[in-house]
Amino acid sequence: ALRTGFFPSVVAWQRRSGRHGLPWQGTRDPYSVWLSEVMLQQTQVRTVLGYYERFLRRFPDVHALAAATLDEVLALWSGLGYYRRARHLHACAQTVVAQHGGRFPTSAAALATLPGIGASTAAAIAAFCFGERCSILDGNVRRVLARVLADDRDPAHPATQRAWWTTAQALIPDDATAAEMAAYTQGLMDLGATVCTRTRPRCDVCPVAALCAGQASGAPTAWPRRSPR
Ligand code: ADE
Repeated sequence: ALRTGFFPSVVAWQRRSGRHGLPWQGTRDPYSVWLSEVMLQQTQVRTVLGYYERFLRRFPDVHALAAATLDEVLALWSGLGYYRRARHLHACAQTVVAQHGGRFPTSAAALATLPGIGASTAAAIAAFCFGERCSILDGNVRRVLARVLADDRDPAHPATQRAWWTTAQALIPDDATAAEMAAYTQGLMDLGATVCTRTRPRCDVCPVAALCAGQASGAPTAWPRRSPR
């Protein structure tokens, strides 16, 4: 049931109840989506909005960003925090221009080789822009999966993380369309951020509650297991 029901439930929920109308949702331009994803890695949507618009106005494409000085990028990033992201952003733009002719690679695997783009961000960009059937797996999604599976393994263990990547991939149907991949990817993010929260999951409004072993146990917050120190 999980294998067949999870994906369509998340897609339908995102279309019905997820976040819509954010500026980076109206585009499949990889530069814009990449910029938004890097900003959203550690910063709330409402803070990102203003920075995103200012960045795109000042640096409308990857060539403009690559040609800027690092000081200029850092100045525009000022206030967003985690300044390593801004350094990587600049380095990534320069790599895309110097090594990829100014066009972002179109697969998650190739995107993940670029500075500041981890496996999950690469998957998000590939799913949103190119409809690739690849799964994000950030902290929020790991929590959702651990609960749905009532998986007792140590979330910090590399073998657990490999198993969850495999599971996350297996939840995506072979015939998922690009539009479904975009809705699903955004839906997973929204589910983890707003419904399957760390301390107070809202199973009453969760689209996958009927498929969730954690919810069936009556104590979903028992997962993910705390990592032993
Ligand atoms: N966090 C990372 N990417 C996000 C996105 N596209 N929407 C909302 N939160 C996010």
